[in-house]
Amino acid sequence: RTVFLNGEYLPETEAKVSIFDRAFLMADGVYEVTSVLGGKLIDFDGHARRLQRSLDELQMPAPCSMDALLEIHRELVRLNGIEDGLVYLQVTRGAPGDRDFTWPDPETCPPTLVLFTQNKPGLADSPAAKAGIKVISIEDIRWHRRDIKTTQLLYPSMGKMMAKKAGADDAWMIEDGFVTEGTSNNAYIIKGNKIITRALSNDILHGITRAAVLRFAQEAQMEVEERNFTIDEAKEADEAFISSASMFVMPVVEIDGVTLGDGTPGTRALRLREIYLDESR
Ligand code: PDD
Repeated sequence: RTVFLNGEYLPETEAKVSIFDRAFLMADGVYEVTSVLGGKLIDFDGHARRLQRSLDELQMPAPCSMDALLEIHRELVRLNGIEDGLVYLQVTRGAPGDRDFTWPDPETCPPTLVLFTQNKPGLADSPAAKAGIKVISIEDIRWHRRDIKTTQLLYPSMGKMMAKKAGADDAWMIEDGFVTEGTSNNAYIIKGNKIITRALSNDILHGITRAAVLRFAQEAQMEVEERNFTIDEAKEADEAFISSASMFVMPVVEIDGVTLGDGTPGTRALRLREIYLDESR
């Protein structure tokens, strides 16, 4: 696979980053994942805008213009012949020559920029979408700036491991009694014609897929209610689903061992998935 590192397209085995890189030592990095369907990048502009916001919030310099980033995305998709898959992008605060908590001067320590592709043939026809996924609930003990897409993913990966151990696929995190989001996705329940999802704040990542899904839901005459919901309310919902760049809209059929409806993906969640895939491609 060809990857991109600091201005160069390289074979993945030749792309090397310093041991002093601040993402390696301190998770001082931000990232984006953009999906590719039929060779086309899905919602690049949304991901570029959120990347800029993450950089601004952390006062981290941008490695180059967003237009240049788009070109790198396209070139990597082309070089690796990606039909369906993902492009991962990471910007870090660079590699000063030592370990230090304070931030280095961006003049002498430029950001590190890494991009690579993941080939996932048939990404949109995942069998999981036909069966639906199972989630468990866990406490949300992450930091309080979840709106910034940082590379601090230890707790989300612990959450996925807890889910796996429990025979489930993912975990929904709970804070002060209310669901925040999934480990790497936004969480929704459906009651009647109403899609309920937590409102945007620093408590959750502002999903690019979420924005599109809510827009499409309204266009399809579904009602959207942005508010907190508890896990008990979720267990009594008609349907549930998650959204992310890599899963699109994925129906949830079980929460903490409680089956939703008849245990198969709900019609509204499936309809939203279909609309999302149709409209974004
Ligand atoms: N995760 N919430 C969290 C905590 C996430 O990590 C993600 C994305 C989302 C959904 O955002 P979007 O719709 O923009 O992908 C919500 C990516 C896919 C990942 O970490 O792989």
